[in-house]
Amino acid sequence: MNKKRVVRKLLFLLLLFSVANAYSQSVRTEENFDHIWLFARYGLQADGSSVVEPKNVQNNAFDDTKWRKLDLPHDWGIEGPFRADLDGNTGKLPWRGIGWYRKHFTVSANDKDKRFYIDFDGAMANAEVWLNGHKIGERPYGYTSFRVDLTPYIWEGKENIIAVRLDTELLGSRWYPGAGIYRHVRLVKTAPVHVAQWGVFVTTPQITDSYGNVSVAVAIDNRLTKPVNVDYKLEIFELSANDIAQKKVATVEKKTLFINPNQTSSDSVVVKVNKPKLWDLEHPNRYLAKVSVFEGGKLTDQYSAPFGFRTIQFTHTNGFLLNGKRVPLQGTCNHHDLGALGAAVNIHALARQLTILKNMGCNALRTSHNPPAPELLTLADKMGMLVMDEAFDCFLISKDDKNKNDYARWFEKWHENDLGSLIKRDRNHPSVILWSTGNEIPEQYYPDKFYLFTQLRNVIRKYDPTRPVTCGISAPNQTAFNGVELTVDVHGMNYGSGDAYGGPDLYKRFLNFKGHEHFTGYGSETSSTISSRDEYFPGNFQVSSYDLTEPGWGSLPDAEFAALDKNPAICGEFVWTGFDYLGEPTPFNSDASLLLNHASLSKEELENKKLELAKMEAMRPPSRSSYFGIVDLAGFPKDRYYLYQARWKPDLPMVHILPHWNFAERLGKVTPVFIYTSGDEAELFLNGKSLGRKKKQSYEYRLRWNDVVYEPGELKAVAYKNGKKWATSSVKTTGTPAMMKLSADKTSIKADGEDLSFVTIAVTDKEGNRVPTANHLISCKLEGPGEVVATDNGDASCLITFSNPVRPAFNGLLLAIIKAKPQQKGKLKLTVIADGLASSSIDIDIK
Ligand code: GAL
Repeated sequence: MNKKRVVRKLLFLLLLFSVANAYSQSVRTEENFDHIWLFARYGLQADGSSVVEPKNVQNNAFDDTKWRKLDLPHDWGIEGPFRADLDGNTGKLPWRGIGWYRKHFTVSANDKDKRFYIDFDGAMANAEVWLNGHKIGERPYGYTSFRVDLTPYIWEGKENIIAVRLDTELLGSRWYPGAGIYRHVRLVKTAPVHVAQWGVFVTTPQITDSYGNVSVAVAIDNRLTKPVNVDYKLEIFELSANDIAQKKVATVEKKTLFINPNQTSSDSVVVKVNKPKLWDLEHPNRYLAKVSVFEGGKLTDQYSAPFGFRTIQFTHTNGFLLNGKRVPLQGTCNHHDLGALGAAVNIHALARQLTILKNMGCNALRTSHNPPAPELLTLADKMGMLVMDEAFDCFLISKDDKNKNDYARWFEKWHENDLGSLIKRDRNHPSVILWSTGNEIPEQYYPDKFYLFTQLRNVIRKYDPTRPVTCGISAPNQTAFNGVELTVDVHGMNYGSGDAYGGPDLYKRFLNFKGHEHFTGYGSETSSTISSRDEYFPGNFQVSSYDLTEPGWGSLPDAEFAALDKNPAICGEFVWTGFDYLGEPTPFNSDASLLLNHASLSKEELENKKLELAKMEAMRPPSRSSYFGIVDLAGFPKDRYYLYQARWKPDLPMVHILPHWNFAERLGKVTPVFIYTSGDEAELFLNGKSLGRKKKQSYEYRLRWNDVVYEPGELKAVAYKNGKKWATSSVKTTGTPAMMKLSADKTSIKADGEDLSFVTIAVTDKEGNRVPTANHLISCKLEGPGEVVATDNGDASCLITFSNPVRPAFNGLLLAIIKAKPQQKGKLKLTVIADGLASSSIDIDIK
């Protein structure tokens, strides 16, 4: 490199550093507050016994010396053990109980004039918070992000104790909710004059080819006892994928705002950005709005909000448009749990889930049925995925038939606050395209209760008038078009692929409704097909992976595809579900979810359902997690993954054959073979002999050879598209299990207490082919400064605690989740051992 170039490069790096610094350096500090909490559990214990909760645990004098030390996020439920006697519906995990967390901390004696807040991203549930014995806040809804103000009771320069009481003892939930401070916590320190919580709201009211207008609304708190005139400055930067502010693209030097003592004042400013790079699914370009606040000429606060330039439209004739282009919603609904890690949020586990979904062609996520962890939205922004952000699973009428202790109990007092928090927290994310007030809300059946939907829509509009409001309306062929659909902007139809989509002219039904002439809709929840990975002729609480089983209210993926193809005005779908999740093990739930899902059944049908449940109860099913996932709980794709991929990534040459071909017991028996391909035709060969070439007919999405007679050997598929060879694949009868093959999603991880490596262990024959029937008991041993945090195999009926490093493979696969100890250096070596198999190992570097 010549001298000039070196100097230029140095200058560039300096510039980069100074703008990067402009982003990271600010007057406020936001400190990660996850480390070193003390924890004790009272009330119901994991083994079902009960421990009396002592009095005055919130007081500083309380003796916590014997409490367990841990870091957040923490979910005490996932620690198990599984208990066969507990509800399958909520995961057979002992999450019910009372949890206390205490943290001792000090703040500098020099910070007497500062404000201190703690931001909880979520705490399950019924949170009550004390500082130095004084109650400073409460929040019943476990999925809500909330802030508590420490300032009135904090002692600068000496030890403080924050105490948090959580109570899930009677919590009503239709799935595994988790328990504990299961999301991140931050200590925020500001000057008395500072940007309010979520106090920067960025919109892009106008985007043309040559410029984009950015409107930034700023809310500033004055916690002084005197009125102030503050100046604020706005800068807009391009934002890199790893969150570094880059080139500055716009500035507003100064705006002035008057704020009364102990009040919040708001203002807004519009600034032009030339030729903004749009945010879309392929190029998720982001920008950063940075607000600097000055009081008396002195910088008192800086606050930065990432955002994106993009337009969204739900049209009544052409579906959903992103930046003016039609993008079919290829969505999945997902619960918040991360499988073997439970509800405790981990950004790497979330990123893995989203990557798996994106590789399938999934472009949209529904946060069913509650506010997500904020990390999910940041990932969606960065990865280019759309989000339907959902608030509640019920309003005033409870879905919890047992103790009526779900959100219905808190709705009256808290819904405005909880919904407002969700909107304010999430409204800058370009990925968010829909606000959903809720899912299958029982009030949808009662016209005199529709005002609640409107009330919630108004709350949303107050905080964000730019995005449409929706709701997952159930049994649409009965309830939709009873008027409830007029309370939303975009009609979400759960399981509506029958007649509810109403033909290509759905919107025409609405031409008579003033204000609804442009009615649009989409499948807010679809399919609910159930299966177990690599099971085709199952017994033992598994469901066949031929993808032909759906519960009474569901439909097969193919039926939904056909409905969408016949109704092009419908914007797309959100499949139930992307991943298997803890709880709701339909069809093996011997508790009430089967009934809840049939809210619209007649009396007689309901009685029959009750009988079905009683029979199931007698079978005592061990199942503790769902079968709905396109991907199993461990993150291994089921066959259905490729059915969706074939449709959602039509340009990816692919062909997938099912079932596997290891059926010694089916010699001479008819064993159907299906092919999922993005091509339009395929030829199937068994041991070199053609079994015929088949073409997809109208509204046909899988190719079937129903009469194949099993003989061991090789199945081969050759797919064609427009008459040309498109993709090939084959499935072989394997040899006997001989060894294990290890592969890690990351072979180098950070020792930051958070980074994870997901190691897949495949049981193979001696040629390295996975044996899809192998269920060997495998021990995972880790050498080096780290731990096997959890193992899983995707078997919904396995009751071995997730933290156990010894677990059988399920149909040839096992997952081990590895973490490095904080601040350690070196190497980790995972070795797997199983009787009858050669052991194997993999190295993981610590960065
Ligand atoms: C739906 C419900 C979901 C889930 C699903 C199972 O009706 O909205 O939460 O229960 O059924 O199929």
